[in-house]
Amino acid sequence: MLRVGYPETLLPELLSEFPREVELVRLSEQMDHDVDIDVWIPDAYPSRAIRAWPHLRGVKLVLALVAGTEWLPDLVGPHVTICNAQGAHNTSTAEWTIAVILAMLKHFPTFFDIQRSGRWKRRFELPDRYVKITGDSRPLYPPVMLEELTGKTVLLIGYGSIGKDIERMLAPFRVEMLRVARGARSEPKVHPIGELDSLIPQADVIVLIVPSTAETKWLIDTPQLALMRQGALLVNAARGPVVNTDALVAALRAGRIRAALDVTDPEPLPDGHPLWSCPNLFITPHIGGSSPEFAPNAVRIAAAELRRYMSGEPLRNVVQAGR
Ligand SMILES: NC(=O)c1ccc[n+]([C@@H]2O[C@H](COP(=O)([O-])OP(=O)(O)OC[C@H]3O[C@@H](n4cnc5c(N)ncnc54)[C@H](OP(=O)(O)O)[C@@H]3O)[C@@H](O)[C@H]2O)c1
Repeated sequence: MLRVGYPETLLPELLSEFPREVELVRLSEQMDHDVDIDVWIPDAYPSRAIRAWPHLRGVKLVLALVAGTEWLPDLVGPHVTICNAQGAHNTSTAEWTIAVILAMLKHFPTFFDIQRSGRWKRRFELPDRYVKITGDSRPLYPPVMLEELTGKTVLLIGYGSIGKDIERMLAPFRVEMLRVARGARSEPKVHPIGELDSLIPQADVIVLIVPSTAETKWLIDTPQLALMRQGALLVNAARGPVVNTDALVAALRAGRIRAALDVTDPEPLPDGHPLWSCPNLFITPHIGGSSPEFAPNAVRIAAAELRRYMSGEPLRNVVQAGR
């Protein structure tokens, strides 16, 4: 019988999603003995999964519960097939992206700061902040307290499962969409990554939603940040290494751009790191995919992949084919 190891953190009611014909093996994070399993479902938190791995024997297939699996190939080696849970956190990550775009254009972090200070008059800091970050010094009355998303140009870097959901959720705002992926496509038009530098200056908002790979490391570096419009917003919902952190800190400190980050490099972001005190920056601690709906979605995706594996059908979410 196929032995499927699952993390003890998985809620018991989710186990009924898996086929009855497998033996489910509960894996503790603090294992003190080795276990033979055929299929491994690692904990969604890499640090926990990494602690379990040295005790696992015979693993042929890994069914990850997350979309981003860049940490798995080095851990399990090239002989093991790895599938991700593409789609499991599309909704939460896309909603996070829309939320931070609106929060930054509506200057919510500043207003929250004002709320906590209990001083209504501080609202008049906003017009000056607007001029400083956007460079828009036209005489405007009444004073500018927030900005509109509608009609802005959004550059989506990564047009996969989550990228498409971000576009769907942006549709009511009638934004101008520019899409980038590895290769060019039409209907809708997707630009190849080679055209990135020519697209950046056209964008008011840039969203990163690509996997972390050797090719995407520092996709956004000093030259790309320099190409961004004054005050444009960089949103990183992907992975920290997609942006060169030192270059980002420099661009933020110079008042050139704004940014919203769910992911950072390094991660966790250490106490006292320069990013914590950068202006025009909103940080969340890698929570974009973590809604109550995530685990049931991820388990359903893993269980469907397991059924395909058992019946010899092609697997759907292979990120590494075991050699
Ligand atoms: N913040 C969070 O909590 C959170 C949650 C979930 C996921 N994520 C991150 O989001 C990533 C994307 O997830 P997904 O499910 O949308 O993945 P996906 O469906 O595999 O889509 C990835 C997209 O990135 C593009 N891409 C890959 N390499 C590229 C490169 N070198 N240059 C330009 N584009 C490239 C792909 O291009 P092609 O279409 O041409 O293949 C594709 O459009 C995950 O890998 C993960 O790191 C973060």
